[in-house]
Amino acid sequence: MPTIKGFSKLSKEAKIEWIVSNYFNGDENANDFLKNYWHDDIAVQKLHDEFIENTISNFYLPFGISPNFNIDGKNYCIPMAIEESSVVAAASKGANFWLDRGGFKTTIIATEKIGHVHFIWNGKDADRLNQFFNAIKPKFYSETFAITKNMQLRGGGIIDIELIDKTIDEPGYFQLKATFETCDSMGANFINSVLEEFSKILKDEVETTDLLTEAEKELQVVMCILSNYTPNCLVRAEVSAPIESLNEGKISGQEFAEKFCRAVRIAEIEPYRATTHNKGVMNGIDSVVIATGNDFRAVEACAHSYASRSGKYQSLTHAEIKDGMFKFWIEVPLALGTVGGLTGLHPMVKFALKMLGNPDAKTLMRIAAVVGLSQNFSALRSLVTSGIQKGHMKMHLLNILNQLEATEAEKVEIVHYFKDKIVSHSAAVEIFCKIRGIEMPKIVSKS
Ligand code: MEV
Repeated sequence: MPTIKGFSKLSKEAKIEWIVSNYFNGDENANDFLKNYWHDDIAVQKLHDEFIENTISNFYLPFGISPNFNIDGKNYCIPMAIEESSVVAAASKGANFWLDRGGFKTTIIATEKIGHVHFIWNGKDADRLNQFFNAIKPKFYSETFAITKNMQLRGGGIIDIELIDKTIDEPGYFQLKATFETCDSMGANFINSVLEEFSKILKDEVETTDLLTEAEKELQVVMCILSNYTPNCLVRAEVSAPIESLNEGKISGQEFAEKFCRAVRIAEIEPYRATTHNKGVMNGIDSVVIATGNDFRAVEACAHSYASRSGKYQSLTHAEIKDGMFKFWIEVPLALGTVGGLTGLHPMVKFALKMLGNPDAKTLMRIAAVVGLSQNFSALRSLVTSGIQKGHMKMHLLNILNQLEATEAEKVEIVHYFKDKIVSHSAAVEIFCKIRGIEMPKIVSKS
């Protein structure tokens, strides 16, 4: 397949033309296909085009709603953007379950963000570097005032700057480790701009200081970047209820709570299970993060680092039975923003935030953590009772029928057929073929 230099310089039309002629044999249907996904409103499309480089079309994700969340006494309908069929259903089920049992309670534990100037200094005596750092430390605050002024007016800014000696891990490796409060913005651009300024200040001060010898003035900045690991930007969400209120059909509240806690315990001790367990948590969190225009890669990276903080990858959620009460909670770092980034630009994001009452960043942290907890509750509730596939395959049935290109009438009939039966891919194909009056394929692909 061909490669190209200067693709980004081409117009959008020329990019499409190049793709169609080189990757679709010039098939005009490919051209039409891409353009069919363009927004009718030219201004809205232009906005999307300009989010990234080389946009040629849009990529849709379903935007679903999970109603009935009661969080700290307030009701929310939560927007979720996700492709996996059962996620919104599971979150909603958890919300409904806890709506009748006192809802979700949350606490913001901390909201600090972190960034580093990573540098190399090969001096012999780290105390001398420390003395130099302490002498120039006020300059890091005063000389970045132009960048931090607005954030300070909003109640944020630089909280602290430390010199960290990492020479035990790598010869000559030191850090300026800075802590920030970025209020309602996620703060990546703010932090990175401040760090790059720190780097300039550091280099300038090294050159002119008389606290270091000429040999000690050899200092090399490696990079300046925020850390997406924000263990001190932490929210806790929890639910609790008397055990007898947890009766699950034929299973008593006590048995359900015990089975549930055991499942959580397994995710606390077994990394294979913890990964899937946390994946379920992130199903909920990511969908809220995406719908509200936040950076789900940052949130994912951070959540999994946090899950490994003991040195072993573990569950993000925990459960206990104590004094007749069942308690289930999550503590998760979530560096989210409700201003800046896409939040004021993407029309669907603006809609999502409005639905949530234009929350501040702390409220959005609470909401996302709750959806993660609710998701995990529903997954575990199914896993320790009916099994996951019953609900999951029911939600997936329409995908199977759409793959088979079933008509609306066929879909209605088949969905009705499965009302009291377990869905499997082959069973769905079988009933579809029967209704169509066609032969069942010998091999049914995709299970
Ligand atoms: C599927 O996307 C998520 C689950 O596997 C989570 C879990 O096993 O806890 C159902």
